[in-house]
Amino acid sequence: MTSTLVQRTGGLSADIDGDRLLRRIARLGRIGLDPETGGITREGFSAADCEARAYLMDEARDAGLLPTVDAAGNIIIRPRHTAYGDGRQVLMMGSHLDTVVNAGRLDGAYGVLAALEVVQAFEEGGIDSPYEPVAVAFANEEGALFPQPFWGSMAMAGRLAGLPREPRDHQGRRLRDALRRAGGDLDALGSAGWPHGSVAAYLELHVEQGPVLERSGSRIGVVDAITGRTVLTLEVRGAAGHSGTSPMKGRRDAMAAAARVVLAAEHIAGERALCRVATVGRIDPHPNTPNTIAGSVRMTVDLRDTDVWRAATAEETLRRMLDAIAASTGTEIEVVAETRSDPVSTSEVLRAAIERSADELGLPHEVLPSGAGHDAQMVADIAPIGMIFVPSLGGISHVPEEDTAPADLVAGARVLLRTALRTIGIGSEDRPDAPHTPHTPHTHSAPHIERHTTGS
Ligand code: GLV
Ligand code: MN
Ligand code: MN
Repeated sequence: MTSTLVQRTGGLSADIDGDRLLRRIARLGRIGLDPETGGITREGFSAADCEARAYLMDEARDAGLLPTVDAAGNIIIRPRHTAYGDGRQVLMMGSHLDTVVNAGRLDGAYGVLAALEVVQAFEEGGIDSPYEPVAVAFANEEGALFPQPFWGSMAMAGRLAGLPREPRDHQGRRLRDALRRAGGDLDALGSAGWPHGSVAAYLELHVEQGPVLERSGSRIGVVDAITGRTVLTLEVRGAAGHSGTSPMKGRRDAMAAAARVVLAAEHIAGERALCRVATVGRIDPHPNTPNTIAGSVRMTVDLRDTDVWRAATAEETLRRMLDAIAASTGTEIEVVAETRSDPVSTSEVLRAAIERSADELGLPHEVLPSGAGHDAQMVADIAPIGMIFVPSLGGISHVPEEDTAPADLVAGARVLLRTALRTIGIGSEDRPDAPHTPHTPHTHSAPHIERHTTGS
């Protein structure tokens, strides 16, 4: 299977160690595990997340690699023999270690461990690469505890204006302190930014988290676009009161208003199909007792589409419906857009490289969009991006039952490695572009892989 690579790399072979990858996935999957539910809770910057981070850094060190932590808390793993910033452009691969509450073990973690495996394969294979292979574990992609999803990748992309100055978690605790414990530094956040052009390409391997590949029998997904996501945080304010003595007429029941908001979100994506999906996933009523009318409710609405204009129209329609709900229930509804990530297209060149790699490995593949958000969306600001999916059993994710067949996990990592080799110009006479001479560190130019935002 590696014969062509052996040839093309001048006698040097590179392959991933599938057993090692699966062992690491199993080991990482025990960190933050709730034995009762089988779910994993590793909210970004929580104690469990820090344990997972320490595990990754230990594995990297044991592999002879050099892990460091940037100011945003991203873990960056480089080959040891290269000094930091040795002048080469970087071929970056990665994903995130943090999870949602009661999650599966693969979302994010798989892509990080596969990236580690590829960088290790470069080292073990003695690959002389014109680009420095680097694995990254982005901090707080999910935003489960500190509600700033894509935290680490936004910082890397220099999107500091989109981040709050003094972020806090749902209980008001400062991100600053948690970040320091994880090895970061909020006051130096700017230093986590990478200039445009420093990353030749970014590749993210991930479980599909949906049913498409399993249904079609494809073993590999080649992502063409990643959905845009807007998360609105709503504060519904009514009037608390005794549930037994307050007449129905004249109530300003924040919970009743919130229920209408849930249905409005379902309506705009369901019946009206203004955006692909809309979800109220979090709802915190106050005081949350059986015999008191809710005085206020905090809730979120997550809206997604791969077209920015459709997403904007859906949001506008929802906001009008919220005004009507507030008027009819005697409540006030304050809306804050906590998160906005634009839909992005992946690089055509990297898509072709992924397809060729899957072909070489005899893996059936298909092109599909990603309904989930990914750090790649942020990295797209500074580099061309490519995304590889493997099938999710039952098409489910963000639940303990999330799983992928071991053979597919290993196959996905092999595709990542091949795509990486192809991207740096090894094993790729058929590479779609050849702007530089391979094996000439410091003298090459960027591979001119295009990127663009969809729908804008
Ligand atoms: C990120 O995991 C998302 O919710 O899409
Ligand atoms: Mn996720
Ligand atoms: Mn993910």
